[in-house]
Amino acid sequence: MTAFGQPPRHFLDLGDAGGDALAAMINDAIDRKAARAGLPKGAADADAPLAGRVLALVFEKNSTRTRVSFDIAMRQLGGSVLLLDSASSQLGRGETIADTARVLSRMVDGIMLRTDDHAKIAEMARHATVPVINGLTDSSHPCQIVADLLTVIEHGKALPGLEVAWFGDGNNVLHSILEAAGLFKFNVRVATPAGYEPEPAFVELARAGGAEVTLTQDAHAAARGADVIVTDTWISMGQADAAEKKAAMALYQVNAALMAEAKPDAVFLHCLPAHVGDEVSEDVFEGPQAVVFDEAENRIHAQKSVLLWSFGLLGT
Ligand code: CP
Ligand code: NVA
Repeated sequence: MTAFGQPPRHFLDLGDAGGDALAAMINDAIDRKAARAGLPKGAADADAPLAGRVLALVFEKNSTRTRVSFDIAMRQLGGSVLLLDSASSQLGRGETIADTARVLSRMVDGIMLRTDDHAKIAEMARHATVPVINGLTDSSHPCQIVADLLTVIEHGKALPGLEVAWFGDGNNVLHSILEAAGLFKFNVRVATPAGYEPEPAFVELARAGGAEVTLTQDAHAAARGADVIVTDTWISMGQADAAEKKAAMALYQVNAALMAEAKPDAVFLHCLPAHVGDEVSEDVFEGPQAVVFDEAENRIHAQKSVLLWSFGLLGT
């Protein structure tokens, strides 16, 4: 319980907010983005709704976009951040997640954690009395997908009935796309080599929500008629850079031939960082259908909505 007797609103996965709150968050992101057009990036929004609030950013893995976007998002909402990593904090010397959660809860207003095992963020949330936000685990990357949905909508696409096609590794980013599919009733075709499929629990979550999910090893069949083509690195953080895995992924590169199967107005998404020449060819990455830098910028606008929801100021 918080000091106000309310349980903190953790955002460990998209389902913690649910479809209605996520829709409100995306709408708010669109409005806030438009309202601050032309302002310097570090200037606060007119209402500065998180003035005086501090968010701890805790990184147990590398980051560029998540780190910068949470920092800028807090500045734009009138608040501030402090940065911790396992190398220089006591986490790296074995202080428990439970004690870290209890200490940080006395000192800051919210915690963002990027870590490996999803059980660690669940543990942080169990012991924190302030909101805990998932900045990526081995299992999921919900903040990324709020930005992705915002980007798709900005490019003129409605979510219900959308045909999304994923290529390559069945990883954390795909898991959150599948969760979103169940919440917003869009369909996902997943093309992976055998043995690299997403975890069945996320496929079942999408299907239980009414999404159609197709798992295939045929990349061209998956791309046919798609509205959104999306991929990610073949080797995620913490995984061994195995030649065997890269060889298995080769048929799943998003290239011009694959894009030609999709709808002519299809967009290409990638959470970044990209490995051009591996999961995506240079002509697609640099081509007119790629919206990856809009997607990266939208991490700021999406993060602001996640923060407002977590602090109880949105989607109540
Ligand atoms: N997409 C994403 O989360 O990027 P970073 O790893 O740079 O934060
Ligand atoms: N799947 C990637 C996403 C990086 C933002 C990883 O976990 O490394």
